[in-house]
Parts: sequence; C-alpha cells; structure tokens
Amino acid sequence: MGGLKSRHIFSAAAVAAAVLIIFCAVNIQERKKEENKGIKIGVSVYKSNDAFVAEIVKYMEESAREYEQETGVKINLDVSAAKSSQRTQNEQIKRYISLGYDVICVNIVDRTDASSIIDSATAEGIPIVFFNREPVYEDILRGENIYYVGTDAKSTALLQAQMLIDIYDADPLSLDKNGDGKLQYVMLEGETGHQDAIIRTDWSVQTVANHGITMEKLTGGAADWDKNQAAALMEQWIGTYGKSIEVVLCNNDEMALGAVNALEAAGMEETAVFGIDATEEGAEAVKDGRLLGTVNCNASYQGESIFGLAVSLGRYGRPPEDLPITDGRYIRSPIEIVKQ
Ligand code: BGC
Ligand code: CA
Repeated sequence: MGGLKSRHIFSAAAVAAAVLIIFCAVNIQERKKEENKGIKIGVSVYKSNDAFVAEIVKYMEESAREYEQETGVKINLDVSAAKSSQRTQNEQIKRYISLGYDVICVNIVDRTDASSIIDSATAEGIPIVFFNREPVYEDILRGENIYYVGTDAKSTALLQAQMLIDIYDADPLSLDKNGDGKLQYVMLEGETGHQDAIIRTDWSVQTVANHGITMEKLTGGAADWDKNQAAALMEQWIGTYGKSIEVVLCNNDEMALGAVNALEAAGMEETAVFGIDATEEGAEAVKDGRLLGTVNCNASYQGESIFGLAVSLGRYGRPPEDLPITDGRYIRSPIEIVKQ
C-alpha cells in the first residue's frame, strides 16, 4: 500500500515538474519573442533634398541593416520629409505616435518650435532623438528621454578659420591677392535662425580677426544652405565686386560648391573658397582643388550615433553605454579639417 501511495506522490511530482518545465519553456520563448520583437523607428527630416542631412540618413539606414544582420531584430526605419513645413512635420510625428512607433528621430523644421512634438511623444512615453537642427535647451529638458545629435557649431567655425589662418601665415599673398594687407571677403550664410548659420558666420570671421588678420567684408547674405541660391548670389556679387573678392567663406559645402560654379563661369578659379561639412561632393571638390578646404562634420558618425541611440532607447528605454553623452542629452560628432 505504502509503495502505491509513494508512487502516486512521485507521479504527481513528475507531472508538476513537467508542467513547470513547459511553463518555463513557454515563458522563455515569450521573453525571447519580446526581446527580438521588431523595433519601429520613425524619422522626419526637414526636407528631402538637403545634401548633408541625406547623407546622415543614408548612414542611419546602413546601420539599421547591419544591426538587423547582427541581432536578428527586425528594424523598421520609416523616413518622411516635411517639405520645410513645421505643420507637416507635426502631422508626420502624430502619425508615428498613433501607430505605436518605439522611438522618433526628428530633424526639426523650426528649431524654436519643438515643444508640441516633445509633449505629444513624452505623453505616450516615446523617446525622441533630435538631430542636425538643434532645439533650445529648455525644450530638450521638457521630457526624460530627449536627446540631440549634431556638431558643435562653434568648433566647426574655429576649424574653418584655422585653415584660412594657416594658409595666410604660410604665404599671405596667396590669399591677399592685391597685397593691401587686408582680406576682402564675402560670406555665404545658411538659413536664418539655424544654430549653425548664426554661430559659424560669427566665429569664423572673429577667429581670423583675433589672430591679427584684417578682414574686410565686401558683402554677404543667406543662401539657405543651397547650391543654386548660392551660385545666384555669387554671380551678383561677382558682377559688383569682380576680382576684388579674395575669399569666399561659406557656412556649408553645398553653398561653397555653388560659389565655385559661379566663380568658374566668371573665370575666377583662383578665388579661395572654404566650406563646412565634407559631404561626398565637398570632399571630392577639395581633392580636385576646386575648394581650398572644408571641415568634416562626420555624417557617418552622426548617422551611426542617431541609430545606435534610437535602437537602444526603443528596445531598452535607455541610451547605450558605448556612446559619449555630454550634459546627459548631447552627442557631438568629432570633426576635422579637410584640405588639399
Ligand atoms: C549643415 C548643412 C545643412 C544644414 C541642414 C548644417 O549643419 O552644415 O549642410 O544644410 O545643417 O540643417
Ligand atoms: Ca586684399
């Protein structure tokens, strides 16, 4: 009898153990499924045809594909362009939120107008990675999981100035063509109100002047980062100032390339043109000697960091440990001079 009872107890225990094992296995499978569940990243850029932003997005897409291959986690990277309209961008972001995207990356149209995007995403607990167009600090602090990836605008200006200073110090007359001891320059500025346009315009000239080189501004104006607008302005300025233009300082490479086109058309290839970004076309133009120099703002580093930050926020709700985050919220790409 005793033997039968213990056999019963034994088989009850075996059933319980089996149930437990099955339960655990199902649980582990569930957890695995949860860990490997796809991540949806919604991206909105301010417009589709900005050369530098397009390069950043290209590197984000490359990083996403590599990540998928390495981890087996499906990444849905959905990119939309806002056609320079903040209203359109707000709609695109609302759509990402309503479709349950895990994280949103925003290249904001109007950098002073980030609060409504931030408030609607944080209300749903969705992290945001801003990039390239920098919201004001107070807005970044409106939510817990809000980050920014970009360059430090002042450092890019200092390197642009440094290039000019080095060339001048080595041979002043190579830039000061009329030998009057001053550099007659024109300034092609990016979009009014963009942090990079304001700071680059101020600090490039100021740094050269602080070094003791006399800068004489002939004229300047905003060409909205755009090659064709820059070429049109440059053509006008060539009409007015002709060969007395010794240096063209540009807030980015696209405008520098536009300036070079206009200068070449006027037979003024010798004029010194400086850009910022080192886009593929910009870096190529430095190699070909059409641009005197540019500053590499590292679109690849930016694209990889935006993706790395976004996927970690989307999967684990926190930034990855291998990215250098300053002031709790910022990733600034390393930059360097690119010259002949
Ligand atoms: C880049 C420009 C670009 C702009 C767009 C700047 O940081 O230097 O090339 O057009 O960002 O926001
Ligand atoms: Ca001069």
